[in-house]
Amino acid sequence: MPYRDLRDFLDALGGDLRRVAEPMSPRFEIAAALRQARPDAPALLFDHIAGHPGWRVAGNLIAHRRRLARAFDAAPEALAEAYLERKQRGIDPVTTRDAPVKEVVATQGDDLLGALPILTHHERDAGPYITTGVVLCHDPATGRRGMGIHRMMVKGGRRMGILLANPPLALFHAAAEARGEPLEIAVALGLEPAIVVASVVKVGPLVPDKMAVAGALRGAPVEMVDAETVKLQVPARAEIVIEGRVLPGVRETEGPFGENTGAYFSNASPVIEVSAVTHRRNPIYPGLTPWGTDVDMLLWLAAGTEMLGQLRAQVGGVVDLEIAGGTAGFSMIVAVHGTSRPEVRRLIHLALALDKRLKTVTVVDDDVDIRDPREVAWAMATRMRPARDTILVEGTEVYVIDPSGSGAAEGSKIGFDATRGSADPSFDKARLDPAALARVRAVLGDLMQ
Ligand SMILES: Cc1cc2nc3c(=O)[nH]c(=O)nc-3n(C[C@H](O)[C@H](O)[C@H](O)COP(=O)(O)O)c2cc1C
Repeated sequence: MPYRDLRDFLDALGGDLRRVAEPMSPRFEIAAALRQARPDAPALLFDHIAGHPGWRVAGNLIAHRRRLARAFDAAPEALAEAYLERKQRGIDPVTTRDAPVKEVVATQGDDLLGALPILTHHERDAGPYITTGVVLCHDPATGRRGMGIHRMMVKGGRRMGILLANPPLALFHAAAEARGEPLEIAVALGLEPAIVVASVVKVGPLVPDKMAVAGALRGAPVEMVDAETVKLQVPARAEIVIEGRVLPGVRETEGPFGENTGAYFSNASPVIEVSAVTHRRNPIYPGLTPWGTDVDMLLWLAAGTEMLGQLRAQVGGVVDLEIAGGTAGFSMIVAVHGTSRPEVRRLIHLALALDKRLKTVTVVDDDVDIRDPREVAWAMATRMRPARDTILVEGTEVYVIDPSGSGAAEGSKIGFDATRGSADPSFDKARLDPAALARVRAVLGDLMQ
């Protein structure tokens, strides 16, 4: 630690990286491989991409908690604490002249994006989509940097559609548009995981720059270099940077695209006109399949751990937090120790209010393994009285990609208190005898969990 760039991280993975020599197509095949690989499979590096000689694609980089922890040089069980502790510091980026991302610079030609092996993911997707591009821009009013992951649809030529549904970029674009001006952006692709995670962290006004969060998470400043055709700085050791402008007053159909919800979503979205593509030699394009475990891990660390810190600051006894896999961050489980029933209710209201995406929060005692859906279902089935322990919040905002909210003016949220709530021994977990368990583990070995 710190990894200087994506290549450094891939090198460090050793046996936890599988190189695929067989040529694979960026149309459907690589996305299928990334989605269907076992969650505990190694990260994948596709060395030969059909139709894109010299390009490579990497994926499943943080699809597993163990590899995510490795990216942050922390033990898996200590990762949340490491994140919360490091994030306090803030390490500003530095400017450098040593910029591998400028090894190849393209500003001419009609089809600047054609060389890139941008993946097409699902049967009914409208086209190739960039799914893990870190979009950088400045607030036109204050000059403050904003960054986030935003899906981008390749439309051919120099045009891409971009979904701008979240701050800060949506706000910056609205501000530029109100002045009738384009918004300059740069899309960094192929970054080490710390920068990708930092790009989707929810930050408040006290931490104005996510690039400083990235520096804090990796333990060293991110090296930046001036872009070619826009007044922005970009990560000097990215694999690829796309530069361009979001056009004012333009909306076009973008989608359908299979989202992190596992369902298709279309939108009337702004359009980017691309002005340059720069990249390293033998570049590595980053793949990320929506609704995959990479997204689960990204949301857990960036949104979940952030929420864990905020809840701990407000309510006593908060131990741990998990985002339910495959729910795009809509569903969360919180473990508490000794928290009273009224305090659990306050916790539920707080959590539901803090994150507009969050629809369902379930609170359990810390004798429940919140990473095991069977245990969570058990707590709900045996420790909860639905009429007493359910909190329904109505009249909330509908999150844009939530299929159940389609066409609805208002959404709703729900919380479940599945804690035991008293010292009644009938709520105790029926345990196995520890000595017997140790003996059968020794005798039966790999048959045992
Ligand atoms: C995998 C992934 C994909 C995302 N795609 C989009 C997107 O297409 N459009 C969008 O507005 N936000 C998207 N987001 C969310 C923004 O990146 C995120 O809201 C923002 O960076 C968080 O910062 P904020 O607190 O300023 O909103 C995505 C997040 C993740 C983790």
